[in-house]
Amino acid sequence: MVTSLGPEHPLSSGRTASSRLVRAYQGERQEVTPVWFMRQAGRSLPEYRELRVGTRMLDACLDPAMASEITLQPVRRHKVDAGIFFSDIVVPLKLAGVAVEIVPGKGPVFEQPVRTAADVDRLTAIDPASLGDEVFAPIQEAVRLTIAELGETPLIGFAGAPFTLAAYLVEGGPSKDHIRARTLMHADPEAWARLMAWTADISGAFLRAQVLSGASAAQLFDSWAGSLSLHDYTTHVAPASARALSHVRDLAYEVPQPASAGAEPPIDELVRNVPLVHFGVGTGELLKAMHEVGADTVGVDYRIPLDEASRRLGHVVPVQGNVDPAMLDAPWAVLEAHVRDVLDRGREAPAHVLNLGHGVPPETDPTVLTRVVELVHGWRPE
Ligand code: CP3
Repeated sequence: MVTSLGPEHPLSSGRTASSRLVRAYQGERQEVTPVWFMRQAGRSLPEYRELRVGTRMLDACLDPAMASEITLQPVRRHKVDAGIFFSDIVVPLKLAGVAVEIVPGKGPVFEQPVRTAADVDRLTAIDPASLGDEVFAPIQEAVRLTIAELGETPLIGFAGAPFTLAAYLVEGGPSKDHIRARTLMHADPEAWARLMAWTADISGAFLRAQVLSGASAAQLFDSWAGSLSLHDYTTHVAPASARALSHVRDLAYEVPQPASAGAEPPIDELVRNVPLVHFGVGTGELLKAMHEVGADTVGVDYRIPLDEASRRLGHVVPVQGNVDPAMLDAPWAVLEAHVRDVLDRGREAPAHVLNLGHGVPPETDPTVLTRVVELVHGWRPE
């Protein structure tokens, strides 16, 4: 099934359809490699720290003007090829009525951890399908405000994958190895499957709201999937991640044709789907499985080189990554050599979007990020 984005959507109207980012995600190698940074919005920017004074994280996410301004800050400053919507993976849970807070320096903390089948029943009593559009109104409004300012720069929407959300829900907060979540997976696979399906639908609805409101790509973060074996991933997690992505897999748009185009191109060149990216940390062993849940592009962390990642993906999948965040604080010559090496290895894939292997550390000097963008934009594949 295909659902068409409205004519005003930046992909349908042509504003972002031929951007470097969107075309690279769709597998077309770009003359200039597109670049953005996970966590580019946030504490590394003084303008962010100033704006956030006195506002709690989740309140900032639900204030459309503030969320939009924070999204735009790194685009203005670094001239990156995309904005990433300022929000958090727990925002849709909060909107669904789950008691959650983001504790500074720690991360998401839940009032009631989900440890037993009865806890899962309590949580899943909220039917994601019953959450109307109005629940996501602050998100839709923030996306609309943002794309009005972004012009031809695409906005990336995102959501947390079911396992990463479950890792927080079951533990009640951040944890090292997500032991309790992985125990529940095996101790009560039926309750686990219900929890995963529910989080998939909540995250899927959050993603869909962002894309329908104007995001030009969507990224599913399974940050903690690296704690899983390939077997556990494919058996107990991948079906739910596929379910999350199925909420946006149908979204497509007609490719705007140049006015002077001659013969009508074939239908498969006329309609494209909204590109979907799937990323995890420490997921070198899972890359192929993560692609197979229905992603177009796979994000790679810094633990394996991009040429090896591309080999594991059969050299047919665009990749995103994978500058080691630790290098951002190294002398420029060291960082520059590393970025060039990442770019060189990225040539093994059909297309490459440069990013970090995980988020920008809060203490990063933002002028270094700007300089990395200039380096990437000046580099050519030959
Ligand atoms: O710039 C961007 O990348 C967009 C914004 C973004 C945030 N969270 C903002 C945020 C994105 C994409 C996320 C996703 C997210 N949130 C993930 C997946 C990506 C990843 O990093 O692996 C995860 C695991 C979370 C959960 C979470 N939220 C953590 C671990 C933290 C950090 C806690 C801390 O204070 O160190 C948060 C809070 C959070 N989310 C901040 C930001 C900018 C920091 C809040 C602050 O400024 O006080």
